Amino acid sequence: MAALRFDILTTFPGMFASDAPAALGFSIPSRARAAGLVEWHAHDVRAFTTDRHAKTDDRPFGGGPGMVMTCRPLWDAIQAVEAQDARRPLRVLLTPQGERLTQRRVEALAGLPRILLIAGHYEGIDDRLVKAVEPLELSLGDYVLSGGELAALVLMDAIIRLLPGAVGHEESTGQDSYSLARLPKPKRIRRTRATGRGQGGGDSGTIVEWPCEVPLLDCPHFTKPRVWDGRAVPEILLSGDHEAVDAWRLEQRILATEARRPDMIPDDLRRGLPALLEQLRSVYGRALNTEGTDIDPAGDRA
Ligand code: ADE
Repeated sequence: MAALRFDILTTFPGMFASDAPAALGFSIPSRARAAGLVEWHAHDVRAFTTDRHAKTDDRPFGGGPGMVMTCRPLWDAIQAVEAQDARRPLRVLLTPQGERLTQRRVEALAGLPRILLIAGHYEGIDDRLVKAVEPLELSLGDYVLSGGELAALVLMDAIIRLLPGAVGHEESTGQDSYSLARLPKPKRIRRTRATGRGQGGGDSGTIVEWPCEVPLLDCPHFTKPRVWDGRAVPEILLSGDHEAVDAWRLEQRILATEARRPDMIPDDLRRGLPALLEQLRSVYGRALNTEGTDIDPAGDRA
């Protein structure tokens, strides 16, 4: 498969150097590049200026603080850079006004052959350029960075690690926070006295269709030693029973998401969770010989 090609338009191309100590010169992005899975080319917008001072910005009409990036150099840079490769890139502008970046969006971008990243600086970019270019506008979050460069680096890292072959089995992305977890339909649907409706099943009157896929946070991870600071690793992880470990991890992902990010769990799905959690506990309970449902999920037994 051809390498994913990133082109970055920036006034600080040095931030996108490929070798350490530059940000993408380490770890997964560096290995993915060496393996031919990804390439990136940073282009200095200043190279597309025509004045003596290589000016890429000017004062805002209407007054006010800060500087605004001008249309012309960016427009010329986009035309010239896009012509360097026959594949038409998706144009992406990093801006705090953009759509909030999610793992679903990252996954979609990881399937593209070519992406052009426009990293604005100063107060922003002349809006006429944005209208003419029609980029996908992405924001990292509800805060303001000094420029789009760090946001572009974060986006690139998030995409690169999803490229097939970028991450070894050891570092698999399958259970990452925000990755989709497949929730099986709970076998036993309990009736609730209040409504008389079942919990967690297709007959419950909810709109959840089981099995379903939902983004969940990651589960806790442990490594050697087995006991540290008086805290033991949850016993189930030492059992060698993969089905039981998977059940425990899914339970932990659900509990973590409920506790930390309840907004990620739709209400109608939440109604099915008690039955599902009970089922998962009975799977790993068998491996622990406890069978019951009052298992200490954190494994805080010393
Ligand atoms: N540029 C400045 N702030 C930003 C943000 N929060 N996300 C993306 N690009 C930005």
